[in-house]
Amino acid sequence: PKKIVIDCDPGLDDAVALLLAHGSPEIELLAVTTVMGNQTLEKVTRNARIVATIAGMTGVPIAAGHARPLVRTLEVAEAIHGVTGMDGPTVPEPAVPLDPRHGVDLIIETIMREEPGTVTLVPTAALTNIAMAVRREPRIVERVREVVFMGGSLSGGNWTPAAEFNVATDPEAAHIVFHEDWPVTMISLDVTHDALATDDVRERIAAIGTGPARFVTEVLDFYAERYREFHGFGAPPVHDPVAVARVIDPTIVTTRNAPIDVELGGRLTTGATVVDVRRPAPPDCRTQIGIGLDAKRFWNLIIDALERIGDV
Ligand code: BDR
Ligand code: CA
Repeated sequence: PKKIVIDCDPGLDDAVALLLAHGSPEIELLAVTTVMGNQTLEKVTRNARIVATIAGMTGVPIAAGHARPLVRTLEVAEAIHGVTGMDGPTVPEPAVPLDPRHGVDLIIETIMREEPGTVTLVPTAALTNIAMAVRREPRIVERVREVVFMGGSLSGGNWTPAAEFNVATDPEAAHIVFHEDWPVTMISLDVTHDALATDDVRERIAAIGTGPARFVTEVLDFYAERYREFHGFGAPPVHDPVAVARVIDPTIVTTRNAPIDVELGGRLTTGATVVDVRRPAPPDCRTQIGIGLDAKRFWNLIIDALERIGDV
């Protein structure tokens, strides 16, 4: 299996990403770290522990990282993810403990402990922890296999007209991560907007009938309602698990190499990702963008993971 660390801000779609990783035989989830984003650090960390409790994910350390972006003022996505950051489902008290380490230390220790080239970082939130980790321990750059990040957009944003939430809320962190000499795959809105939780998909998940599947059904029902209200979507795009799916089966997301940068000083466009697709990427280009998603196989992976998790 592929070894991954998920850095997240659960978050309704982050919760689905964690379950997909936990239930996939192709993945060995080494650690979960949290960062402020959809809600405050305290709330998203509690939510990560709740998801672990629901899924029976007991052997994976969960550690809290940064509570504030590098430069900008904290902004949370309460309108979508609610006051708790995971409104909607009925959830238990978290029974899985919090690892006492700082999230950034857990990221660094995990990468430095494993064989070089074996650990993939999967950030599904603002890149604050990843940027801090690389500044603190630059040797992680050559040891990480790849960074597969959910965020960014080539075609307009969801947080501002120009910028996607995970990049918009800490663009300086994104700048650091995009410019390090490690392979980065950006799973942007252009692909995740094809990962729609249609009625058909939600019915298939509900039919599994287990506790964790019931949780995902409640998550998706609430998320669908919020997306309908705020973005006018018929079925909501479930962004974060697409990054995990890309690691499980790279053929699910087609990609192309392209230089990626981020606007830090725009009047209207701060946090917009700027991708150079004018011509083939230069041979030394280490960044790539997702350009297409096989949505059918994506949902099959999620359903398969939930079936494997079973009842906890
Ligand atoms: C991203 O923003 C967050 O609200 C979601 O969890 C996802 O990571 C989508 O723009
Ligand atoms: Ca997220």
